[in-house]
Amino acid sequence: MAPAQNRIEISYNGKTVALPLIEGTEAEAAIDIRNLRQQTGLITFDPGYANTGACKSAITFIDGEQGILRYRGYPIEDLAEKSTFLEVAWLLIHGELPSRPELESFSGEITRHTLLHENFARFFSALPKDAHPMPVCAAAVAAMATFYQEPESDDTIHKTVIRLLAKMPTIAAYSYKHYIGQPFIYPRNDLDYCSNFVRMMFATPCEEYEIDPLYAKTLDLLLILHADHEQNCSTSTVRMVGSSQANLFASISSGISALWGPLHGGANQKVIEMLEWIAQNDGNADRFVARAKDKNDTTRLMGFGHRVYKSYDPRATILKKYCEQILAKVPAGSPSAKLFDIARKLEEIALSDEYFVKRKLYPNVDFYSGVIYKAMGIPTNMFTVMFALGRMPGWVAQWLESRRDPDFKIGRPRQIYVGATKR
Ligand code: ACO
Repeated sequence: MAPAQNRIEISYNGKTVALPLIEGTEAEAAIDIRNLRQQTGLITFDPGYANTGACKSAITFIDGEQGILRYRGYPIEDLAEKSTFLEVAWLLIHGELPSRPELESFSGEITRHTLLHENFARFFSALPKDAHPMPVCAAAVAAMATFYQEPESDDTIHKTVIRLLAKMPTIAAYSYKHYIGQPFIYPRNDLDYCSNFVRMMFATPCEEYEIDPLYAKTLDLLLILHADHEQNCSTSTVRMVGSSQANLFASISSGISALWGPLHGGANQKVIEMLEWIAQNDGNADRFVARAKDKNDTTRLMGFGHRVYKSYDPRATILKKYCEQILAKVPAGSPSAKLFDIARKLEEIALSDEYFVKRKLYPNVDFYSGVIYKAMGIPTNMFTVMFALGRMPGWVAQWLESRRDPDFKIGRPRQIYVGATKR
């Protein structure tokens, strides 16, 4: 039995049982309840899993009280300043930053797998013209399992990961081109990951398209900031689906669907819709904040609050700085500049309002990301797709970690049944 300081005792029905305590490398302690039901007949009740550690993970560390986010031990601020998205993708998936030859080979492989099978053109054309790009992407990623049917093994999984990371920008751009009725633009192998994506989104076959390096750089940064965030709703979904040993494409497709919801990745779209609504109505940020506080009104201040961060989301701090740089390029008084002004005003009001202070509600990553996308010309319904593009390496890393976990088990929570008894 574990020594007294490493266990917790609970008494129930006249019986005392000792449950072991486990501790992570950042001194987070947890009660190991794996044998709880067997020993006591009890289960735990934790809606939304706010107190439940579903796995051990060595990928991402968050301290929500202090606003700390690290991938594999590296602070997000350092990675945002010094790395590229593909470096960060390698770091998340392999656990270490890549050497120069590793990065070159990884980038080369990704570059050479960006093309989609030509039959995908028919797949896109079968969908309604006004289809939202998120379910289109989820369906396209699931459909990749039909094009690449080799069984998953250590040898083939590497190629599956490369295909996912390489083809996701092409799928994302095609889902947009389908939506606006323009021809698909093939990827180009001489361009880096983000420049290629920007070109596939905005170029047309009729004229030369010049890629703005600031936009490609900003996009790269946005993808880094979204690359992983430990056991959130979509990542837990990827792990849950993967726990049935469903393949990687199916697991990631379900993660994209989970991310679409407005309380998760869909919040960036909701933030812009909220800012536009305020701009089109009276432009009065105070009045909107009052509605968000009113318990008889379902309005929430979108882009504010977070299940884990109870202080400023570090990603929001970085994005606010970039927002200023990007917004410096758009004319004063333009719609994007107006939205940025409203966002700043909302933030200022909320941060000094007792309602938000008491509940520790601060801007999250989505609060400023939408304003940046908007200024770059990325349409609102593509915002969550951009998030999915960034989250891809995190999902992959978490899925791989879960498969290799010695504690691996199919995910299967229990319930407290409150329905009718036998009748
Ligand atoms: N506006 C107004 N009130 C809020 C907000 C908000 N954005 N967020 C939380 N609250 C209030 C709740 O009404 C609740 O008040 P109460 O204690 O009086 O009942 C209290 O703060 C706690 O809120 P919960 O919903 O219980 O917190 P939870 O951790 O479950 O939810 C969430 C977190 C979903 C992010 C929530 O803050 C929210 O809905 N925010 C707006 C949507 C958003 O921006 N989502 C993006 C999250 S980041 C991401 O997924 C990438």
